[in-house]
Amino acid sequence: MSNKILNTRRDFLRTTASGLVAGMLPVSLVRLASAQEGGPDFTFAYVSDAHIQHVKGSQFVRNWDRGLIRAVAEANLLEPKPDFVVFGGDLAQLGTKAELDHGAEILSALNYKTYAVLGEHDYYLDLGEYWSELYGDHYYSWDHKGAHFVTLNSILTYDDWTFNRWESAERRMNEMAGLDNPNGSPFMVGKKQMDWLKKDLAKVSKDTPVVVFSHSPLQKIYKGWNFWTEEAEDIQALLKPFNKVNVIYGHVHQIQYNQIGNIAFTSVMSTAWPWPYPESYAQAESHLPILTVPMNRADPFNERDATGWQFMNMHTGRVDLEFNLYDNTNRTVAFNEQKGHPEDTSYSDPTNRTPAQRHY
Ligand SMILES: [Fe+2]
Ligand SMILES: [Fe+2]
Repeated sequence: MSNKILNTRRDFLRTTASGLVAGMLPVSLVRLASAQEGGPDFTFAYVSDAHIQHVKGSQFVRNWDRGLIRAVAEANLLEPKPDFVVFGGDLAQLGTKAELDHGAEILSALNYKTYAVLGEHDYYLDLGEYWSELYGDHYYSWDHKGAHFVTLNSILTYDDWTFNRWESAERRMNEMAGLDNPNGSPFMVGKKQMDWLKKDLAKVSKDTPVVVFSHSPLQKIYKGWNFWTEEAEDIQALLKPFNKVNVIYGHVHQIQYNQIGNIAFTSVMSTAWPWPYPESYAQAESHLPILTVPMNRADPFNERDATGWQFMNMHTGRVDLEFNLYDNTNRTVAFNEQKGHPEDTSYSDPTNRTPAQRHY
């Protein structure tokens, strides 16, 4: 791909993400962006972690509602139109029918086919029963334009914790909803799903791009906050034989990106609120490369600061993410073919960082 085309693509993505209405982009740019070698290019969008919270009666926490409504409205204005939208989990805050119904109603305004990922806030009240009525299976796969997509349920945990430890479903939900709670339990996919994943991937040729959607990171980042999946290494081993693998996950409410072997990992933002970066990023002895740089955020007077959604460009088997940060500077994390890992295109040059960001 020539630099000229790449630059044009980036400009095109930036223009799209800035919220221009449909029809304003020159058609030639759209053609250029889809004329790549090595397979068809296409786009999809990703909205995650809405945490719709019921107050009483027909009242819900306004701020979380507004974040999701805005993402849906902006996604509907995208041009070119995404082939589909993924909702990345934590639609509800405490897993109630009222919350899931209200969230599903907001999402139903999307003009595109929507795939859903299960989050822990959707699951631990009734163990995903009502969520299944709305969205079906907890894990599944499909093929689209030469790529293989897998959606995992990565927020299961030990049976003893789930079935025996708590006196009520509400208590169980509350214990898992806390971010920094010593009563929590590590996220897992479990043996049944691991067996299914193994069988599913066995049918896929090794040169097919594989994109995995999970709620928790399929890498071990920080156990205390469950930025973690217990079988991360086993899942990575199953994905290792494929040439191009992308794992895209929610749950962390912040920008993260990483590369482990052939697998590119990228997080997506929440429409509800940002989490801070755990202190352990700077302190812990880690086998991971430096994950990211701090987000430009923390305006306490802006309820939408550091929340947003993503526009994704699936080109030549790699996924570039344009982070649409509401009322903030959009960020792009794109795979750098020369360096062999994803990078934040604005922050890869340390001179672009503020002094406070440089120690990362
Ligand atoms: Fe979340
Ligand atoms: Fe979550």
